[in-house]
Order: sequence, then C-alpha cells, then structure tokens
Amino acid sequence: MRVTERIQSSGSTLDEISRLIESDAGLTARILKLANSSYYSVPGGVKDVRKALQFLGFTTIAQVVLTSSVFGSFKNSGLRDFPLLPFWIHSLAVGQVAELAARGLNQPQPSDAFIGGLLHDVGKLILLELAPEQLSRIARYALEHRVSFLQAERDLGLEDHIALGVGLSRHWKLPELVEEAIRSHHSIPETRSGQIVAWANLWVQLQGIGASGSHDPETESRSLELGRLLGISPALAGNIEQQFRKEFEKAEAILGGH
Ligand SMILES: [Fe+2]
Ligand SMILES: [Fe+2]
Repeated sequence: MRVTERIQSSGSTLDEISRLIESDAGLTARILKLANSSYYSVPGGVKDVRKALQFLGFTTIAQVVLTSSVFGSFKNSGLRDFPLLPFWIHSLAVGQVAELAARGLNQPQPSDAFIGGLLHDVGKLILLELAPEQLSRIARYALEHRVSFLQAERDLGLEDHIALGVGLSRHWKLPELVEEAIRSHHSIPETRSGQIVAWANLWVQLQGIGASGSHDPETESRSLELGRLLGISPALAGNIEQQFRKEFEKAEAILGGH
C-alpha cells in the first residue's frame, strides 16, 4: 500500500520508491526478474532496483507490487477443479484490460481500475483458503451445467463470491471504487468504473485468457451491452486489445514464482 501511495502521489522520487521496494526482499527479486526478462532485454542486465525502475515505469511497478502483495497473501496452490495459475492469469488480465479501458475512456485513477480488475473475483480465493471442497463443488457444477460461477453458487444455495469479496475489501480497507467493482461485476453496474471492470472481465473470458471457473452463456451479449453503455467504439476496442497484448507479455514475469 505504501509503495502504491508513493507512486500515485506526484511528489515522490525514484529514490524513495526504490528504498521502499528494497525493504521487501520478495518484491526486490520480482522487480529485478521482470527488468531482466526478455521483454525489456536491457544490455548488460539490471542489478539494482533503482535502475530497474527506470526501465519499468510507474504503471508496471504498481502492477507488480499490487499483484505480488495480493497473490502472495494466498499460499494455497489450487485444486484439480480450480487450478490457481489460470485464475491468476484471468485476474491479472482483467486488471490490465480494465486499466487500459479506464485510460482510453479518460477515467480518473486508472490504477484503481487495475486493482478492481485484479480483485474482482477475490471471493473465490477466500473459498479456496477456507472451504476448498465447496469451491470444487461450485466449479464442477458450473462446468457441467454451463452456467456462471455465481449462478452455480446460487443454484447450490451457497454464499457467493461477491459477498466474500466485499467482506475482504472492507477488511483490507480498499478504495470504494474497488469494492464497487467486486460488488457489481456480475450485473450491469451503475458507475462507469464498475462497468469498466465488468466489461474487462467479460472481454478476457471471450478471448479465452486464463480461467475463473465461470461458463456463462450470456458472456457475449452482456459484453456488447456494457461496451455500448461505456461508449467503447470498435477503434477503441482494437486499441485496447493491441496495448493489452503487449502488456500481457509481462504476465509471466509478473506472476513468476506463484
Ligand atoms: Fe465473478
Ligand atoms: Fe472474473
């Protein structure tokens, strides 16, 4: 949280942010790994955080810090019916697409769209930690009946991942925009920031990137409706896709180690 606050405030310097990152060994390793990945291919390599930050840029640093602190809080390695890596990929991709869409639509605080996207399904992780056999049941039901994860939870009469996610968001005192993204991503949200995360979630599912245990037959029609509401033109959608493909090349390095 401290690193992302420093990144968002305009007065912070590279030195301050470097020092904060260096106080966390895991984060330091991840930042260096990303800076030395083929994506950047810096001649001679990068050996210190300060130099790494110059290549990464603030948006990417914020993404790495947030992703590793959120995912690092969960130690479970996933289930046969709910493997974790595709779920991380889903979450990270929704975060990246939401941030790009928020920028393209001139929304304030696009990095909050990233956090909203990254965490929209965090309720599923709580199930994984606390009630893995329940998570397996829901995932199997959704697959067999070709319904959304939420519909499966409702059909089985269980507390849903939205209520769990909202609870966590309050516990962690996350920004209101983030809580709203968690609360509304399966409906047609009232706020634009909520709509952006909901749209990004559907877009990522339609592209077949990662997996989140959802098999909603209405993914395409809902995505069209939200795209219309937000005013995402075909040109903007193309633009977002193109930028995302580039961003997503960093995914392996960002997720590395999880
Ligand atoms: Fe969801
Ligand atoms: Fe999702």
